[in-house]
Amino acid sequence: MVCTVIVDGFFGDSGKGKIVSYLAYADDVEYCARGGVGPNAGHTVTVNGRAYKLRMLPSGFVNPRTRLLIGPGVVVNPEVILKEISELREGGFDVEGRFGLDAQCAVIEPRHIEADRGGHLGEVIQTTGTGTGPCNADRALRRARLARDIPSLSRYLADVSLELNRALDEGMNVIVEGTQGTFLSLYHGTYPYVTSKDVCSSAACSDVGIGPTRVDEVVLVLKSYVTRVGAGELPGELTPEEVKRRGWEEYGTVTGRQRRAAPFNFELARRAAMINGATQIALTKLDVLYPECRGARDYGVLTRDARGFVERIESELGLPVTLIGTGPELEEVIDLR
Ligand code: IMP
Ligand code: MG
Repeated sequence: MVCTVIVDGFFGDSGKGKIVSYLAYADDVEYCARGGVGPNAGHTVTVNGRAYKLRMLPSGFVNPRTRLLIGPGVVVNPEVILKEISELREGGFDVEGRFGLDAQCAVIEPRHIEADRGGHLGEVIQTTGTGTGPCNADRALRRARLARDIPSLSRYLADVSLELNRALDEGMNVIVEGTQGTFLSLYHGTYPYVTSKDVCSSAACSDVGIGPTRVDEVVLVLKSYVTRVGAGELPGELTPEEVKRRGWEEYGTVTGRQRRAAPFNFELARRAAMINGATQIALTKLDVLYPECRGARDYGVLTRDARGFVERIESELGLPVTLIGTGPELEEVIDLR
């Protein structure tokens, strides 16, 4: 039995979705439970050349044996959930019968989205405009509606904490999938330019209802360079021209906004490893920094520079780099575990 929590060490968009889906598949994981904020997240999973952009469903969908759950700490948009279920079905991934969300997930309503799209949130913080912050505010005020109040969700309702704790008792493998990134945390991030709750590993456990003593591994996902969307500081930020010249241009999955970018930041990575209690590092998009590495599945074929970068991360963080992403496809991973 292994319980693995997967979180992002920078500002989101590190490629967690790809790492989660790889592990669900490679380790034949029985449960993949989504913690985190809500549909403000965008996870891209590329399988057989087709990219699935998910905002609500767990990235473990690629394994037909994996049960997919959303924990009660996550705020949900019923329309987005139903749309993703049907998009996955179209792509050949039937999740009907293996997807569940907790009856106590708070539900985003049109007024939350409206409140997220202008004024302080929309213009100053530059949120994703998906209604997650206003919904969490309503939950704190004890007036949000819950998933159990929504007829279109009734067939998917589950008791997520009970299911996960039983699965762990029975010796099954569980992945807890976090969202956003450490420095977007309401508590540990660059306040006020942050999301509406804590998004570190302990929060992800709380979101799905498992205690800290149940966790075996915390995988900190670090991209080979740092990106950020929306307002707030980004140390070492490059000009848009320089970002383009380096080939680091990216656009947001949810909002389509161009992401700001900076070189890999060892100081932030060390702090993220500390706050999350990381036990291992997944380094993603190494091929963007070192194009010769594209598609590599064996450490030995990496160039000297690329290996030097990986080894520097290990020595500065005091943690092993166990997974290295070398391309967008699910299997483009060097697995050093
Ligand atoms: P909110 O989470 O929509 O309230 O947005 C708050 C801040 O977090 C904004 O700067 C967003 O751009 C950022 N943010 C929220 N979710 C994500 C994400 O999944 N990836 C990257 N940035 C995000
Ligand atoms: Mg994203």
